[in-house]
Amino acid sequence: MPSIDRDHLQSLMLSEQKKFIDERPKSKALFERARKSLLGGVPMNWMAKWAGAFPPFVREAHGAEFFDVDGHRYVDLCLGDTGAMTGHSPSATVAAVQQQLARGITLMLPTEDAVWVGEELQKRFRLPYWQFALTATDANRFSIRLARQITGRGKILVFNWCYHGSVDETFITLEDGVSKPRRGNVGPPVDPSVTTKVVEFNDVDALAKALQPGDVACVLAEPAMTNVGIVHPDPGYHQQLRELTRKYGTLLIIDETHTICAGPGGYTVAENLDPDFLVFGKPIGGGVPGATYGFTQDVADAIAARQNLEDCDVGGIGGTLAGNALSLAAMRATLEKVLTREAFDRMIPLAERWTAGVEQAIANFDVPWHVSRLGCRAEYLFSRNRPRNGSQAHDAMDFELERFMHLYAMNRGILLTPFHNMALMSPATHQEDIDHHTKIFRGALQTLIG
Ligand SMILES: Cc1ncc(COP(=O)(O)O)c(C=O)c1O
Repeated sequence: MPSIDRDHLQSLMLSEQKKFIDERPKSKALFERARKSLLGGVPMNWMAKWAGAFPPFVREAHGAEFFDVDGHRYVDLCLGDTGAMTGHSPSATVAAVQQQLARGITLMLPTEDAVWVGEELQKRFRLPYWQFALTATDANRFSIRLARQITGRGKILVFNWCYHGSVDETFITLEDGVSKPRRGNVGPPVDPSVTTKVVEFNDVDALAKALQPGDVACVLAEPAMTNVGIVHPDPGYHQQLRELTRKYGTLLIIDETHTICAGPGGYTVAENLDPDFLVFGKPIGGGVPGATYGFTQDVADAIAARQNLEDCDVGGIGGTLAGNALSLAAMRATLEKVLTREAFDRMIPLAERWTAGVEQAIANFDVPWHVSRLGCRAEYLFSRNRPRNGSQAHDAMDFELERFMHLYAMNRGILLTPFHNMALMSPATHQEDIDHHTKIFRGALQTLIG
């Protein structure tokens, strides 16, 4: 098994960085200008994390591709980290949004589209009641608040190295059995151990032990972890998770924001899960901000029994623009015409092709890496073995190597997510895009290993 020479890696990184800068004079100039008005030269903190010396500034994006201001074309396998899993500006969503733009954007009043979307979500995810938010973060936060109110319990439980958006309670990690604030946790309101228990994914005993005292309002879980590489549940794990949460009176929130990649009803329908709450954000409006959370009849009854009309606007669940007419029009068109069964039937085989190409290259170059897939999402990780939990997946990360792989790909017209090595397929992705990635991936390995 060849090892990666770190000096060689650093010198490759320097030459890739030079190529990136030399070929993007217009992005560079915009970045320099941006630094005078935007913190760090970017409108949003994690846009600073792209592997280049600055992010490529976008001229326009369509389907599965975009062009930067210097005229470079990129195959977009990041797709706004799932926000654009529909492909950029899908025509059905654009048409609906254009019409709605001229008829009112936000009113604090419902439109018929809200009812259509609620009915569609009922059919899709098999939960009877739905509410809207603008981001998946908010949909998670609101679900947690409701779970706390219903159960009268203070704590929540998450899995080690999870990510559910910027939800305060979730920025906790487990190190040598001790929970502590996650590295990089900016200004935590309290030590997250006060609000949260954290256990490893796929560890049934630890889960049972954490739930047993009866102080956990809800488990917030991705059904397969997707934010630290892909970590699949062990066979039978979800059944045990459900049995234990029921046994100890804990509600189960399944966050499908990324695992929607498993099919039109997400992992929940694909694998017949039975959550109390389900959260789905990012691509639901084809890129137009919007998110939703749904729940069971029992949860709806419990909420109704505690509802207080006089104070319902100041209770911590809200958002003036949530459920606005524009988001709902975008969601309706996206659910009806874009994120369809037929679209998944196209996207999933593309992810299989991507996986096969990467797997073959890993085998040919004999690097100790592996690739995992979940529906139309796939990802390679720098370990021979598949992780069973967040710690194992996190231990396999290699920031320096990851940045090289991303920059090498970006310099040759491929965009991966900036956080790990994820590739996502949209209905507009083509087989040639995948084969282009395979070629570039092989090229990176050749350059690294020789
Ligand atoms: C599983 C999951 N849930 C929720 C979120 C939060 O989404 P947003 O940043 O759109 O609020 C993310 C973001 O990456 C996510 O991966």
